[in-house]
Formats: sequence, C-alpha cells, structure tokens
Amino acid sequence: LTGALGLAACGGRTETATAQPNPPRPLRETARCPIGTCVGTDHIGDPAWVALATRHFSQLTPEFEMKMEYVLQPDGSFRFDGGDRIVAFARANGQRLYGTTLIWYEQDPAAFHPLDGSGKRFADAYRSYILAIAGRYRGQVVGWDTVNEPVAEDGNGLRQCIWSRNLGQEDYIVRAFEHAAEADPNALLFLNEYNLEHLPRKQATFLKLVERLLSRGVPIGGLGTQSHLDISLKSGVLTQTIRRLGEFGLPIHVSELDISLKPHGFNLPVGDPLQRQADLVTELAEAFMALPQRQRFAFTAWGIRDRDSWLLRRPGGTGDRPLLFDEAGEPKAAFHALQRAVSA
Ligand code: G3I
Repeated sequence: LTGALGLAACGGRTETATAQPNPPRPLRETARCPIGTCVGTDHIGDPAWVALATRHFSQLTPEFEMKMEYVLQPDGSFRFDGGDRIVAFARANGQRLYGTTLIWYEQDPAAFHPLDGSGKRFADAYRSYILAIAGRYRGQVVGWDTVNEPVAEDGNGLRQCIWSRNLGQEDYIVRAFEHAAEADPNALLFLNEYNLEHLPRKQATFLKLVERLLSRGVPIGGLGTQSHLDISLKSGVLTQTIRRLGEFGLPIHVSELDISLKPHGFNLPVGDPLQRQADLVTELAEAFMALPQRQRFAFTAWGIRDRDSWLLRRPGGTGDRPLLFDEAGEPKAAFHALQRAVSA
C-alpha cells in the first residue's frame, strides 16, 4: 500500500456567524473534563459552526475523514487531505484531536479484496495500513478508536468481517492494538462500542471481550461507549452502564452521544421529549463525572446543532432533534443539563 494524496473537493456551507445575546459560558471552560464533538472539513467552512465548536468544545473527532473508507483508495494509495486539514484546525484552536477508526467491521475496502484469503500478504497489508495512518498522525491525536464495534448486535459472540475472516475472530483485534501501539506508543488505544445501554447481552459480551483481551496483555488504553440513545431509554440504565465499564479502571469515553426524540423502544416517555432528552444527558454526565478524574477521558457529542446530526441523513430522520444545540445554534435544555452536570 503506498501513500498518495488525493484532492478533495472543498465544499462547505457558508453562513454569517451571528452573535447570540447572553450566550452561555464556554462549556470547555466550565467543564471538569474534556468536551468533544465530531467534525468534518465541510464544517470548517461554516463560520456559525466554527464559532460554536471553538467556544464550547476542547476535543474533536473526525466524523469521516480519518476512516479507512476515506483514506484508503481502491488502488491502495492513501488520501490524507481531509485529516490533515482537521489536524490543522484543531491545533489552531487549541483542541485535542481523537481519531476514529482504525479498524471497523463495516469497512470492506476494495484495496483489500485482491488480498482476501492470501494469509501473510493480507496480514502485512493490514499492518501497513495501521502503521501508515496511525504513524502519520503520531503525536497529533490523543487516542484512537483502534477497533470499532467488535460485538455482534445480538450479543452472541463477535462480528464476522473481512478482518476476522483473514486474521482470526479475536486476533484481528489483538493485531490492531499491537500495530497501533507500534505506530503511536503515546496514543490511548480504545475499544469502542454502541448499544451497550440498550442491549444487556451485548454489554455482557463486550465486558467479557475486554476482560479476555486485557488478560492477553493487549494494550487497551480506554473504553468507548458511543451512547447513540433515544428518549425511550429507561432511567438507571446509563448509570449502570458507565459503572460497569468503569470497573476495569480504564479511561472511559462517552464517544458519540446523541439522543433521538424518535423513541425506538416501547417505553414512551410522558411529558416534554426535550426535557426527557435533557434528563438522560444529566444521568449520563453525572455517571461519567462520578468516575475518578483519571477515568474521565472525554464526553463527546456526535455533532453540535441538530441539523449536523447523521441521524437526520437517515431515512425517517427528518425532524429529529438529537443534539445539544438547535437548528439556529441556540443551546437546548440538553446543553444546559450537560453544563450543570460536568461543571459542578
Ligand atoms: O463527503 C462525501 C461527499 O463528498 C460525497 O459526495 C457523499 C456521497 O457519497 O459522501 C460523503 O461522505 C459521507 C460522509 O459520511 C460525510 O458526510 C459518506 O458517504 C458517509 O458514509 C459518511 O457517513 C458516516 C458514517 O459514520 C460512515 O463512516 C457518518 O457521517 C458518521 O456520522 C457515521 O458515524 C458512525 C461512527 O463512525 C460509528 N458509530 C456509528 C456512527 C453513525 O453511523
């Protein structure tokens, strides 16, 4: 795999930033933990987004442009232009940068297809990819989602993917962490998962996987719980999830928080959905802040304004309001709930 810079079209919404009367104090100043959000190069061209991002967030996660699907071209070359621009933006604004994701079951890149089943050649290309990207951003990212979403959705074992098929059910995970540690020894290497709250069986399988990997000496530096939630979630589940994850003593990353107002469960909340959303933020943030300081890696929302959310780009997502700021960039009850919980 050789590195080569692709040229990306520079798009971006342009809006004039409007000063908000009596804006809340900067969250990144009042919070007693790093506060993150996701970023794309198109956001960087939007002054209103930049104003909110630089005022309230101390950490950024590239939503797409450090993932294999963006970086690795079909011919095996690499495209780093988006990631490089985001690195420069974070550095210019004194923000930490967190990378996602080195290895993910969802990725099935064309460049690896000719190597599928080739044994050592596949393993060498796997290592080369991780060394290339984690090496390029060595010292520029505070950590990586080294392996994303390893557990089967029903909690019955681990996911099957091109990586597990070629390198072994669990060994692809072990190798990813070893290669990432080789590329960037100072980066915190996370195992990141979602639906740990909604699916107890999946949570249990994830916890057992972490235990096994740690017993094998795998250099796991932290655990990420994505926290893609909805207002049907029962009270208490978030507290239990954070407490269980915290029992390993590792740094915990609430890595991709959004709370959909479109309930997926049958526990339809009564009252104002936005207040229920705020109450869930309070529960999650208070559970996170109850962790020892050394375990509070970061609390990251997966977007700033409701319209920035990936959820609105999904079928049936129109009208959802999953994030901390509304369409106009005004703070919602969820923002104030977060600021109260992390600043106390
Ligand atoms: O930027 C290109 C654009 O140039 C092109 O015209 C367009 C059409 O192909 O694609 C655009 O890229 C899209 C990118 O988001 C930026 O918007 C990709 O197709 C699309 O696949 C990508 O989706 C991202 C998805 O992960 C897959 O990488 C979402 O933004 C992102 O929110 C989502 O985030 C994931 C986490 O990584 C893992 N947890 C779940 C979460 C939600 O799925």
